[in-house]
Amino acid sequence: MPITIIKGTIVSAPALGELEITENGYLVSEDGIITGVFPALPERYAGAEVEDCGDALILQSFADLHLHAPQYPMLGMGMDLPLLDWLNAYTFPTEARFADPDYAREVYRRLARELIEGGTTRVCMFSSLHREATLILMEELERAGVTGYVGKVNMDRNGLPPVLQEETEESKRETLLWLDQCRDFRHIKPILTPRFTPSCTDGLLDFLGKLAAERGLPVQSHLSENTGEIAWVKELHPDCGQYWETYAKYGLWNGRTLMAHCVWSDGRERAAMREAGVTVVHCPDSNQNICSGVAPVRAMLKEGLKVALGSDIAGGDHLNMFDVTAAAIRASKARRILDDWGTDFLTVAEGWYLGTSAGAAFFGERPGFAPGNPLHALVLEDRDLPRPHPMTPQERLERCVYRRQKNALRAVWSAGRKVYSAEL
Ligand code: GUN
Ligand code: FE
Repeated sequence: MPITIIKGTIVSAPALGELEITENGYLVSEDGIITGVFPALPERYAGAEVEDCGDALILQSFADLHLHAPQYPMLGMGMDLPLLDWLNAYTFPTEARFADPDYAREVYRRLARELIEGGTTRVCMFSSLHREATLILMEELERAGVTGYVGKVNMDRNGLPPVLQEETEESKRETLLWLDQCRDFRHIKPILTPRFTPSCTDGLLDFLGKLAAERGLPVQSHLSENTGEIAWVKELHPDCGQYWETYAKYGLWNGRTLMAHCVWSDGRERAAMREAGVTVVHCPDSNQNICSGVAPVRAMLKEGLKVALGSDIAGGDHLNMFDVTAAAIRASKARRILDDWGTDFLTVAEGWYLGTSAGAAFFGERPGFAPGNPLHALVLEDRDLPRPHPMTPQERLERCVYRRQKNALRAVWSAGRKVYSAEL
């Protein structure tokens, strides 16, 4: 992978609410690592091949920091129940199908392609509790060019026994075996994944916390999504004042922790996230579909929390992160109304930052197309949309957030590799 040079209208999100725009610019990477965005091609690259994209938009690709791979088959279905009933009625029976490796292979191959074809190149993903299907998921993501973290789910209580629940010792054993078996993946790495507090016994949480510390592994789970769930956690852990403490108690609460939803996290819970450096994953589609609530994202940002976006399929009904970005902006407007017009909504530039740079930060990247970042980019044509008068790159990006167009995505790079090309 020597030198890649992409020419076009380059737009990136170097800070929350800011767009950096270079028209007729050059995005350059060497060995998959960005060296810069240049208004004119530097002398040292003279003679190198340039991929000229005309005036197409060259954008950062997306990071989807929370989604459930085994819920892909139920996408767009069964969203007439609140969280806990929804899990029992639809989700657990769907995930139970992944005991079958052939079924897993077929579903996960499609999912991996759809992610790339939607411009999502980085993920933090829940698998099911099945070790074999989890390895298949990792293989298919790696094959398609998706990068990031995948977690074999741990759940040893309140599942759907016998088809979707583990014995405690079995869960520990399978997790260790899975970690041994997934050492050779290059772009997909393991993340410890206790489903949520009600799914895991204290003994299992304790084991996972110690394992995370011993091996330096990141952790993902759910937090304060739904009021019924929060009341249940309180019953299960009467010694914990708040939900987050059930994770903190077992060492599952630090700067490498992702917590999805956080719809009902109050000032105290949010302060605990900020102090520990936990990243909130905002899942606006899911929060609305299964009537969880409207997360206070503006308050979180104001308080200095790290916030990224997740499609949370299949609570969420959109895998495409442009759609999720638009949903996050809409949710922030609903929140503004609920807050009696007292909080600001997210601008398009802010929403897009959350879906790109904020998610990339979990992988250690700097915001925007910063030199030193691995090249994660997409080329988007908006030729099929009317442009009867001149439009600025910002207006064009704004419209692309809200409007899906056929064949708009022309190419995708993931960790320096060209993983999709519309010409193929
Ligand atoms: N909490 C525990 N499991 C799940 C899940 O699969 N989806 C969502 N949205 N919340 C959860
Ligand atoms: Fe989820």
